[in-house]
Amino acid sequence: MTLADSAFLRACRRQPVPHTPVWFMRQAGRSLPEYLKLREGVPMLQACATPDLIVEITLQPVRRYGIDAAIFFSDIVTPLKAIGVDLDIHPGIGPVVADPIRDLKGLDALRPLEPDDEPYVTESIQSLVKELGDTPLIGFAGAPFTLGSYLIEGGPSRNHDRTKAMMYGEPRLWHALMERLTEIVLEHLLIQIRAGASAIQLFDSWVGAVAPDDYREFVLPYTRRIFEGVRSVPRIHFGVGTGELLGVLGEAGADVVGVDWRVPLDEAARRVGPGKALQGNLDPAILLAPWEVVEPRARDILRRGRQAEGHVFNLGHGVLPNTDPDQLKRLTDLVHEG
Ligand code: CP3
Repeated sequence: MTLADSAFLRACRRQPVPHTPVWFMRQAGRSLPEYLKLREGVPMLQACATPDLIVEITLQPVRRYGIDAAIFFSDIVTPLKAIGVDLDIHPGIGPVVADPIRDLKGLDALRPLEPDDEPYVTESIQSLVKELGDTPLIGFAGAPFTLGSYLIEGGPSRNHDRTKAMMYGEPRLWHALMERLTEIVLEHLLIQIRAGASAIQLFDSWVGAVAPDDYREFVLPYTRRIFEGVRSVPRIHFGVGTGELLGVLGEAGADVVGVDWRVPLDEAARRVGPGKALQGNLDPAILLAPWEVVEPRARDILRRGRQAEGHVFNLGHGVLPNTDPDQLKRLTDLVHEG
């Protein structure tokens, strides 16, 4: 097997696979004891700028589970940090922005990302690609809507009120913000691809808050531009609570559409339409139940996934912090055995 022939890249391209490939969103970090040990006393954003740590943390789940792809250890806000946005990641909370963007003046904080703003990204990915051999490395970025939400709200938000208030009430400001973020996100993905990432995932985690027509008007032009700009590798597009958006997400141009646990994969394939592979979609909370509960549900997902033109097994959202790593190991083995 070669890298280009790996089950993961083949499934993304909708080619036949020897077994269903599997990886887990947020597999690096979170529940692994070896991760928690490495991170002791190191703030998250410092870890994300330290190549030795990035490489080791990215490899940990690959060694432990034997999954089909690695995901670069970082966070969606690191390119914003790299251009000087004053923000931090608070344990148990998430990204917190010191000066939320609420007006045109606020946009000044978002200068373009230059290719050499993130030397630790390039250096880590170059080492990882050597270490990983035939295992693909997924680069990633947060999508403009989700990054915009953190920047406008100033931190995590339940209903994204201020974000939507800007989107509906100040559409010119909204579009100007989305344009700046689009260029930053695109450059961040290109930096990862140039360094050797063999696929990318765009996380639009919170875009499920938006209705389909509003998605078309306020979000789609930007996600489309990003996917057009990274055609050289398979592209995965993921959001939470996007059941009603699956059709329009299909129009954004990714090769693979991620599905959360709310829509069964056979139904998701129908909603997304032809010409796409799917990724998903076990509810991460199911892994907190005994294995006897997990097994039939995982098999059901494999069965429904066969209705899609390609299937990458994953959770419907990130691994929960209190997940037993042994459950993820058993799940990986089950998916591989088919
Ligand atoms: O394994 C992987 O998937 C790679 C690493 C990764 C992290 N964040 C590490 C992280 C990835 C892909 C992300 C993406 C990310 N970050 C998203 C999109 C994915 C999703 O879950 O929807 C979002 C929305 C963020 C923003 C963010 N950063 C949140 C919500 C949190 C969690 C806060 C918490 O502690 O629960 C973070 C912090 C974060 N990102 C941690 C890690 C390992 C924890 C940091 C710490 O413990 O100090």
